[in-house]
Amino acid sequence: MSHIRILPENVANKIAAGEVVERPASVVKELLENALDAGAKSIRVEVESGGKRMIRVTDDGCGMGHDDALLAFERHATSKLRTADDLLSIATLGFRGEALPSIAAVSRLLLETRSAEEEEGTRIEFAGGKLVNVKPAGVPVGTTVSVADIFYCVPARRKFLKSETTELGHIASLVTHYALAHPDKQFFLKTPSQEIVNVTPVEQLSERVYQLFGRQALDELLEIPPSEAPVRSAITEPELEPDEQAALVRVRGFASRPEVQRTNRNGIYVFVNRRLVRDRLILHAIGEAYRNIMPPMVFPVVLLFIDLPYQEVDVNVHPSKIEVRFRHPQFAHDFARDAIRHALANARPIAGFPAAQMPSPAARESFAVAAAAAGDTLGPPHAVIPVSFENSGGLGEGFELTGAPDRPVPQRLQFDSGEVIEFPGGVEPRPSSEAPAGFPAKPATAPASLPRPEDIADLKPLGQVNNSFIVAVNGEGLWLIDQHVAHERVLFEQHLRARREGELGGQRLLVPLVVELSPRQIVIFEQIAEELRANGFEAELMGQRSVAIQAAPAGIAASDAEKLLAEILDGIAREAQAISIDSLQAKIAASTSCHAAIKVNTPLDSQKMEWLLAQLARTEYPMSCPHGRPVVLRYSIHEIEKAFKRI
Ligand SMILES: Nc1ncnc2c1ncn2[C@@H]1O[C@H](COP(=O)(O)OP(=O)(O)OP(=O)(O)O)[C@@H](O)[C@H]1O
Ligand SMILES: [Mg+2]
Repeated sequence: MSHIRILPENVANKIAAGEVVERPASVVKELLENALDAGAKSIRVEVESGGKRMIRVTDDGCGMGHDDALLAFERHATSKLRTADDLLSIATLGFRGEALPSIAAVSRLLLETRSAEEEEGTRIEFAGGKLVNVKPAGVPVGTTVSVADIFYCVPARRKFLKSETTELGHIASLVTHYALAHPDKQFFLKTPSQEIVNVTPVEQLSERVYQLFGRQALDELLEIPPSEAPVRSAITEPELEPDEQAALVRVRGFASRPEVQRTNRNGIYVFVNRRLVRDRLILHAIGEAYRNIMPPMVFPVVLLFIDLPYQEVDVNVHPSKIEVRFRHPQFAHDFARDAIRHALANARPIAGFPAAQMPSPAARESFAVAAAAAGDTLGPPHAVIPVSFENSGGLGEGFELTGAPDRPVPQRLQFDSGEVIEFPGGVEPRPSSEAPAGFPAKPATAPASLPRPEDIADLKPLGQVNNSFIVAVNGEGLWLIDQHVAHERVLFEQHLRARREGELGGQRLLVPLVVELSPRQIVIFEQIAEELRANGFEAELMGQRSVAIQAAPAGIAASDAEKLLAEILDGIAREAQAISIDSLQAKIAASTSCHAAIKVNTPLDSQKMEWLLAQLARTEYPMSCPHGRPVVLRYSIHEIEKAFKRI
């Protein structure tokens, strides 16, 4: 007797539902994607109880005829694919033909739809995967899908749903993302008590950012100007068809200034061919773009749109289509990284006095974070989204300078070294009424309040505060320069450039220094011994637990060599994964320059100060140290005059 049985369809659907429907937001995602695939110009999402009680998505897309509407609930029924070859170039968001039957299997679902060809619409009702009712219905062209009581027939899953606020947060985050990807469409999200998103079609992506996050957020972002490159080279791949040779990858979007720092990746949205994805490769590229201009363990805000020919990306690798595979991953990675790096290098912004940039208390309070908690789900997980849009000015709405939103904003930054930087509380918070009522025709890519690197070219030092901070002036205003991090930035760039050009000689110690290492440190030491040597470290294993340091990188005092080595080894151990040679070199350069740089509490004569300021002006990124801390603060003449009530 045979033991193997084909599962009845309703069981198979419930299993498939487990993959597709994880939580209310997954339902919203599938319905939104269907609406977009149907060519909708306006999409309206209504939810009750965080989507647990009800989700209704209404679109003005092409709708379905009576027969199609019934077919849509069969598994693998799709209008979007015909042959296996179509799978190689998917242009729609959906293609599996699984979403509707999966959702219907775990909820009470009502579909109302009409195509332009039919006079009368169709109304179909499912409960727990069973067809309950089919009726004609007088409805406009388009589709409305209402999903009630999600998981009512799968109690085990219902238990796993998080609080209403959390689930609503995920939904709001999702609608926000799709609204960003489609500025030309109208999106609407509401609950019985709140209108969460309401955006009308606009032409520019920047206008959509403004609609969703407000003016100040836009000021915190740098535009990544559209750039494109051929994916494949006609020279290396001459057999390509002409249209394949012409295939381009395009990248554009927004990246936050380095001083905008978040404690998680919630602010990073990546879209590949307008599909919201969670892609490790691209996240890594973003990290690389910010390497050494941002502290470790903090993250930027990035909206990245990558568009490439459909054949260049496989979207059929994950049931909810959230992961993709690039056909030329290295190319996609490097191209994205370089586009962001360029945008950052071109702006090279310098931190102003943070007090002058604090959001108003009102804006801070308007920070309604619904999704900060909760499990790993759709899209960038734990997305932080603005739930209240009443206040249109201020960082508070989805963006922040540093720190998680549930922490107080005048913030502190804690570094791996244990060092803490505290930003002072708002001296004169900007009134939120300053936010412009309308959207400016062309959004400024750099707000006037932020100084630029050119501005530090002719700084005249006046003296030091506390033997640690150089006070300087020029036509721009009054400046404070942290002497240690300024020197660190100078040395870092010099060291790294020199290393990339060749090997660096070290300084021999008078007496070899024997240091004990932990087993973990020994393992790392052996892995990177070669690179350490190329950076001027001569060190050899002695026995099982110790190394003898014979030479240290130039500028490092003998007494510091041990600390530096331990710091490098621990820094790499923390990554706990394969580290690229580029980032290894950058890490060593960062640690070395930190130890070699002028310390705080060191008196400097005016010649030394002048020398340091001139060196700093020549660096590529004078605005932050290799660990991402600010190097200079400016008090502009405008701010000074304002503070003295002269203007
Ligand atoms: N809002 C809508 N407007 C018009 N047609 C729709 C809509 N939603 C679904 N359909 C039709 O129903 C079919 C099945 O939808 P379903 O979401 O189950 O599968 P899919 O979108 O083809 O693939 P996937 O499972 O990857 O989402 C679609 O191919 C489409 O033809
Ligand atoms: Mg679909």
